[in-house]
Amino acid sequence: MLVAVASIAWLPLVGAQPIIGDPVLGANDPILGSKHDFTGLNARAGVVAMPGVAFSDYGYSCVYCHIPPEEAGAQPEEFGGIRDWNRFMPATDNYELYRSQSLDNQTKTPNGISLLCLSCHDGTMAVDMVVFKPATFDPTMDNAMHMRINASDDIESCGKCHNGQVAHDIAVKVIGTDLKNDHPISMDYAGLNFKDPDFHPPDHPNGFDNGVKLYEGKVECATCHNVHNPSNELFLRAKAEVLCFTCHIK
Ligand code: HEC
Ligand code: HEC
Ligand code: HEC
Ligand code: HEC
Ligand code: HEC
Repeated sequence: MLVAVASIAWLPLVGAQPIIGDPVLGANDPILGSKHDFTGLNARAGVVAMPGVAFSDYGYSCVYCHIPPEEAGAQPEEFGGIRDWNRFMPATDNYELYRSQSLDNQTKTPNGISLLCLSCHDGTMAVDMVVFKPATFDPTMDNAMHMRINASDDIESCGKCHNGQVAHDIAVKVIGTDLKNDHPISMDYAGLNFKDPDFHPPDHPNGFDNGVKLYEGKVECATCHNVHNPSNELFLRAKAEVLCFTCHIK
């Protein structure tokens, strides 16, 4: 899918240089025009729906998640960021993760690649809160409003307009900090080494042939969703009907 970036080295997510969000190499990336293309939101909505009120437009979409090319080699974690990503660390103490008697692996804190998603979807931090702004961004263009994916009716929250009346209701996109009702994340995949007979063993160390992906043997948000591939609804890596049974036997 990533035609334009296929020529660059294939970088593993952990233990190597973070992936750079290069707007030139990414010029045909399918993420453009998707819900994660923040510079395109107004155009896609067909109207200037959010006229300079919701977030700073940094000029290209990659930088809302990836560090900009001119910061290659920089370490976001030295600035309070999530390792490998251009996002600040959410307050992980607030998270309540899935617990149950039958769960083999209880996790306390989500791993980096899931914190990336939560840094927007938990609703606590502004969408445009990035560690490194791109060098091409003119600081005088910085917006007065830096809103969060949060359904509250206040000037810090997208819910100010996204309430189902002014614009579509954003509530369903807000994962929040209580993750108890969501699929467990950041735990070891129970099907590794045929450990748990209720789970299929993965097809290869990085997951399954249908694209469902493990990160160092763990299940993360990006195991089921690929933000770079809008071909399935909700960026799911496999159609909803088969997704669960990729891993679960019953
Ligand atoms: C919403 C967050 C987000 C945005 C915006 C984003 N990416 Fe990504 N990107 C990710 C995630 C998450 C991965 C890891 C995907 C995986 O493990 O399959 C990734 C992976 C990559 C990779 C590694 C190749 C791959 O598929 O694993 C490259 C290169 C990349 N992104 C470039 C870009 C470029 C260029 C842009 C802008 C056009 C961009 N990204 C925008 C989140 C984002
Ligand atoms: C920079 C902020 C940001 C980050 C980081 C981010 N998202 Fe999103 N995401 C959004 C916004 C904004 C929307 C659109 C909300 C709306 O439609 O009202 C969205 C929408 C979605 C949707 C719904 C898409 C649809 O078609 O309705 C999914 C699923 C999703 N994100 C998953 C993820 C995952 C998984 C990650 C981490 C790999 C991630 N997001 C990272 C901001 C973000
Ligand atoms: C001043 C009101 C207002 C604010 C504030 C606002 N929006 Fe919007 N937004 C709109 C309107 C109006 C539309 C077009 C109608 C719709 O899609 O519901 C829209 C459309 C969108 C779309 C759909 C574009 C598409 O084609 O997928 C997304 C995603 C979105 N907004 C995200 C956000 C996010 C994230 C925030 C907070 C950072 C935000 N909006 C803040 C008014 C607003
Ligand atoms: C085991 C697979 C799986 C994992 C792990 C997972 N999701 Fe999802 N996600 C789904 C499925 C399936 C849906 C659609 C059905 C639903 O809403 O439950 C969905 C829906 C969503 C939606 C859209 C809600 C809507 O209806 O528009 C967002 C946003 C989202 N997920 C973000 C995340 C984030 C962030 C994480 C990590 C904290 C995550 N997901 C982890 C499978 C997963
Ligand atoms: C990548 C593999 C994978 C996929 C895909 C997946 N799961 Fe899971 N699921 C797991 C793992 C691993 C656990 C934790 C099992 C353990 O450690 O005991 C789990 C746990 C659960 C639990 C909690 C069970 C308990 O013991 O408390 C539920 C419910 C669940 N999954 C439902 C789903 C649904 C519904 C889907 C499809 C939307 C889905 N899963 C997709 C791997 C997966």
